[in-house]
Parts: sequence; structure tokens; C-alpha cells
Amino acid sequence: MKNKTIKISRTIKKLGYGEQDPPVRHFFSTLSKISNKNHFKKILRKTLEKRPNITEEHFAYLIYISLQYLTDFDYDKENKKKKIESDLILYSDKIIKLCQSKYASTNVIERYAFMQIILALLNKPSLVIDVGASLGLGLMSLNTDSFSHIGVDSTLKHYLNKKVNVSKAIGVDIQKPDLKWQLACYLPESKKNRLELESVYKKLKREGTEISLIRGSILELDKVKLKADIVWTSNILYEVEGDLSKVFTYIKNLLNKGGIWINTDYRHGDKPFATKENPYVAMVRIKEKWNRIFEVLEAPSDVVRIIKQGNDFEKFIEVYE
Ligand SMILES: C[S@@+](CC[C@H](N)C(=O)[O-])C[C@H]1O[C@@H](n2cnc3c(N)ncnc32)[C@H](O)[C@@H]1O
Repeated sequence: MKNKTIKISRTIKKLGYGEQDPPVRHFFSTLSKISNKNHFKKILRKTLEKRPNITEEHFAYLIYISLQYLTDFDYDKENKKKKIESDLILYSDKIIKLCQSKYASTNVIERYAFMQIILALLNKPSLVIDVGASLGLGLMSLNTDSFSHIGVDSTLKHYLNKKVNVSKAIGVDIQKPDLKWQLACYLPESKKNRLELESVYKKLKREGTEISLIRGSILELDKVKLKADIVWTSNILYEVEGDLSKVFTYIKNLLNKGGIWINTDYRHGDKPFATKENPYVAMVRIKEKWNRIFEVLEAPSDVVRIIKQGNDFEKFIEVYE
């Protein structure tokens, strides 16, 4: 537990620097200064009692999201140290409960433009499983106009606008949808998406790609009987409380011959936010060439408003053909 506590303090400190959303950076930089106080230590201890394998970054964000949830988004702005301390004391029991049971769950539609482009590159009917699908908005957005505002060059535009053949779309997530929690998970930089979440959800339910959404854990994918052409994971691996190498094997076994796993996240797993050297990338593995990772696409950050060809875009096309 002591080791974990030290790692968590380091992560909070790290999140207080860098090029991320300023109110979030400010929150972590302040939290780092008070992380030796008893009220913070109690939250940490109680959470670890219940979730000993919680990852450092996930725990840090759960504190921030819990405060957003309990204060009706007071943490969209930069708060003084005094306010943060008094909220941690006032809401202590509720924060503990949330940190013990919840998962950070944004659902950023634009990330799935990576999937739209890669499906178009593959150009064949595909059964897609999205693990950590949240509300399923990403899958529902396929073949809609949801990506039209994303900046792309003419080659990518061709693929992005192409209708793709999704034979079945299945979303898997460990937690039940909870709209208020979901809203609290949107960071201030994505406030606009938060305001629009409900109407976007209704529109996509009506007009988007039909999906099946089921509850389940990435740690139990070995129990899934189906085979997929594409397994998709975005912004989930940092939350997984278990052996990731097992997860990778489960995903490989889930794939049909020629199937691919698309994992989209920051290039360096230990750097949780965007920098020039750490863009948000689509890392693709082909079942039969598992040890090779193709960076097919990239975006400056995980809000994905611009998409560029990744370092291995051409190579991926060559190998896949
Ligand atoms: C940060 S959200 C990302 C959602 C979506 N993929 C996106 O990029 O917009 C991560 C999602 O993974 C889910 N999750 C976390 N751990 C999981 C697990 N062990 N198995 C399945 N889903 C999990 C969370 O509930 C959450 O909805």
C-alpha cells in the first residue's frame, strides 16, 4: 500500500504539469500540495482497501470527476486551495464511495473517426467489438455526419466520407450508463460536448448505426464466444485493474483470421496527456503479425479535432493488401 501511495502522489504531481486542460492541471497541482493531509490520505486508504489494483492515473482522475459530480461542475474553473480542501472534507464519504465503485467514462465521438477511416481502408464487411464503449456513441456515429467538422487532408477525407460495411457493432462496458456521472467525466475543454450529450445521444439512437451494448469486463474477454474482425479500445487500458498482457492475448484470440486490434491512446502509456512528442495515435495490430504495431493515424490530442496520417499509414496499407 505504501508503494502505491507514493506512485499515486507522483502521478498527481505529474498531472499538475504539462500541456493539458488548464483547470485540470491547476487542480492536480494544488492537490499535489495537499496530498499529505489526513483528509486526502483517508480517501486514498479507503479506496485502496476496496480497489487495491486501481491504477494511479485512474484514481487521480476519479477524485477530480467525483468533485465535479458532487459540486455540479465547480471544477470547470480554477479553484483556490482552501476550496479544494474544504470540498475534500465536506464530501469525503461520498468521494470515497464514488472512487470505490466508479470508472471514468467519457465518450468522445471524434475518436471513432479513426475507426471510420480504418474500416474504409480495409473495405470489407466487419464485425466490430468496442471494449470500454461507454454509452456506445462512438459506434453509433459510424456512417453518420458526426465527423464532418474534423480537419483532414484530401486522402483521409476520401476515406472518412466513405460508407463502411459494419456487419455487426457490439459495445462492451463494465459499468451501467449513468448520465450525471458521464457528464462529470467531460473535462472543461469538452464542455460543449457535455452540454450536447443528451441530444446527441437521442439523435444517434434514432439515426446512427445500430449497436448492441452489453455489460462485461475486458478482463473476461476469454469467455466471449464470438469472433471479431475488429476489436477497438480507446482510452480504457489505463483504467484496467488487472494483467494487461492477458488482455492482449484475449483480444488476439477474439479476432478472426486477418482481424485487427485498434487501440487508440497517447503514444507513450506513461504520459497521460498531449505533447508534440506524445500525440494521440491509432495503434493497429494484425492478428498474424501481432508483435508489430502500426501507427496508422494520429491527432494532436484525444479530443481529435484534426487527424493526420500516422508514421505507418502507407506501410499498413501495403501489408494489409
Ligand atoms: C475513458 S472511457 C472511454 C470510452 C470510449 N472508448 C471513448 O473513447 O470515448 C473508458 C471506458 O472503459 C470502461 N471500463 C473501464 N474498465 C473496464 C473493464 N475492465 N472492462 C470493460 N470496460 C471498462 C469504463 O466504464 C469507461 O466507460
